[in-house]
Amino acid sequence: MSVTTSLEIKITQTQNSKLDTFNQNELAFGKVFSDHMFVADFVNGKWQDLRIEPFADLVMSPANSMIHYGQSIFEGLKAYKGINGEVLTFRPEMNAARMNESAIRMCMAELPQDIFMEGLKALLTIDKDWIPSVPGSSLYIRPFMFAMDNVLGVRPSESYRFMIIASPSGAYYSEPVRVKIENHFSRACAGGTGAAKAAGNYAAALYPSKLAKEQGFHQLIWTDAKEHKYIEEAGTMNVMFMLDGKLVTSPLTATILPGVTRDSVLKLVASWGYEVEERRLSVDELIEGAKSGKLTEAFGVGTAATIAQISAIGYEDEIFELPAVESREVSPRIFQFMEDVKRGKIADEFGWIMEI
Ligand SMILES: Cc1ncc(COP(=O)(O)O)c(C=O)c1O
Repeated sequence: MSVTTSLEIKITQTQNSKLDTFNQNELAFGKVFSDHMFVADFVNGKWQDLRIEPFADLVMSPANSMIHYGQSIFEGLKAYKGINGEVLTFRPEMNAARMNESAIRMCMAELPQDIFMEGLKALLTIDKDWIPSVPGSSLYIRPFMFAMDNVLGVRPSESYRFMIIASPSGAYYSEPVRVKIENHFSRACAGGTGAAKAAGNYAAALYPSKLAKEQGFHQLIWTDAKEHKYIEEAGTMNVMFMLDGKLVTSPLTATILPGVTRDSVLKLVASWGYEVEERRLSVDELIEGAKSGKLTEAFGVGTAATIAQISAIGYEDEIFELPAVESREVSPRIFQFMEDVKRGKIADEFGWIMEI
């Protein structure tokens, strides 16, 4: 198999393809992986040994510094099968750029954008048959980087590994979600790592999320760590509201992940003529809107979740049921546009689609 890229990527093809065991009609999220993976190593100050290999377990020293001190960052994007069978990705250069922002914050090696992009292209070329075509499905792509020094002692690692793996996946949330506004625990604080896609951020969120699940919620909406007064984002998605006819979302701060979907939705909705406000939104204003009926739509936006309708918001001891999803106008329209553009069904008027 030859893959055309501008970088030298060594390809070792699997002798044991699992493609015939992959059932498109039974797709969960992130449980099955395609046949290959892309790997590159940062050693002696240089990214080298770019390769595609059969998907396999890693061998690591128990002294690996990522395990002990947590230098681990990742990205998430999707590949879609277009209507003519072409392989389409959505704004992957934004993921490459965000990965480097995360790398800088976590004191890790930056990755030249062409290694990210060429690695992605090579993997998608060799594993394109793993892109499912049933409605709502896609190939979820997980680029990630972690420390590779085998030394105990807190300091930045000198060596790193960058990898890309891929997982054919169905919808992340299949039904509208019930969310709880968290007013005790925090995911991120000013000066912390919230704006980086760092593995530790997700670990820190697990315990409060578990408590929320025990109370019957799917997800948390985080509030600012200082006063728990302002809405920030959800665990795996940014959150948006239609409040008094305007689209409102939190501004990008050091505590919010700058979502690719968030950026796209803001541009899209503004292009439709709606007023878009990136501003601090207090919990009080949101709850007031839920009570008065000014809050007509609430939804999460993210690569994995796409557009996840929020059906109810829990705050302190109360639960606010929001208007029925069928009555919503803007978020279903966003969902449809995003689905159609990602699958090449409508014109790519914003130049977001990269065909592999
Ligand atoms: C914490 C958090 N916020 C927001 C998002 C949405 O970002 P994107 O639209 O780039 O997937 C994600 C998903 O990656 C996330 O993990």
